[in-house]
Amino acid sequence: MTHVTPAGKQHDSSGTGPSAAGKALYGGTGSRRITVRDIAAAKERGEKWPMLTAYDAMTASVFDEAGIPVMLVGDSMGNCHLGYESTVPVTMDEITILSAAVVRGTKRALIVGDLPFGSYQEGPVQALRSATRLVKEAGVGAVKLEGGERSAHQIELLVQSGIPVMAHVGLTPQSVNAYGGYPVQGRGEEAAQQLLRDAKAVQDAGAFAVVLETVPAEVAAEVTRSLHIPTVGIGAGPDCDAQVLVWTDMAGLTAGRVPRFVKQYAQLRQTLGDAARAFAEDVVQGAYPTAEHSFH
Ligand code: KIV
Repeated sequence: MTHVTPAGKQHDSSGTGPSAAGKALYGGTGSRRITVRDIAAAKERGEKWPMLTAYDAMTASVFDEAGIPVMLVGDSMGNCHLGYESTVPVTMDEITILSAAVVRGTKRALIVGDLPFGSYQEGPVQALRSATRLVKEAGVGAVKLEGGERSAHQIELLVQSGIPVMAHVGLTPQSVNAYGGYPVQGRGEEAAQQLLRDAKAVQDAGAFAVVLETVPAEVAAEVTRSLHIPTVGIGAGPDCDAQVLVWTDMAGLTAGRVPRFVKQYAQLRQTLGDAARAFAEDVVQGAYPTAEHSFH
């Protein structure tokens, strides 16, 4: 039996079809949840894949229907959803509630819950406690945490405990107060070598993928060639295995300037504002509601 995938392509509904296209993370088979094994297989096939952030059930359901195979309930919710100035204030309670909503809104995507600042830096046991909460209470399929060599012990314990981990190196936004901003990382020979060591450390610790944020494209390409786990780029050039964007940036909902690496695929801020103004005009002029919107 064939049917149409979220991405609009026909496929074998058994999910066991032999073709590489049928197995594709984007536009591929089946309605079962994507797992970290599917992610590993995509790297072996050389398949590139998209990832978006999501913070609520409704938006996540739109991305799931569009066939986005991996969603990150990122601590970027601090800036984009909760009105904080950075990711630093985000709490475990906030991540857990919004991750559970994203899981409820999706059927196919692998949902990755971000471990917020202060929830894993104390050491592996604290990391395990926080990650376990996200897996048990929110139902995420994996967690993400920031740091390379410095977070390797945390990653090791989580993976040994059965929790898949996506790592995050390069620019790690939870360190904004130490950086004094969001500077490009991995520039220059020494910094590039450190980035490579960080990426290898998280791979050796058992991470199933690693985010490379705001690093030179050439360095990201070298890291991607050197690893057997997929790299997920954000401001890291075209050669990573996957690309992630914060959805409010991607869809043009974010106010003001967005980082240079962002491409906006819609202008939702304009569209939503226009809709709100049109509704307000109708109300003040008595043009809404009309008979068709009324009960008798
Ligand atoms: O929190 C987040 O959205 C992230 C991505 C930018 C990778 O960490």
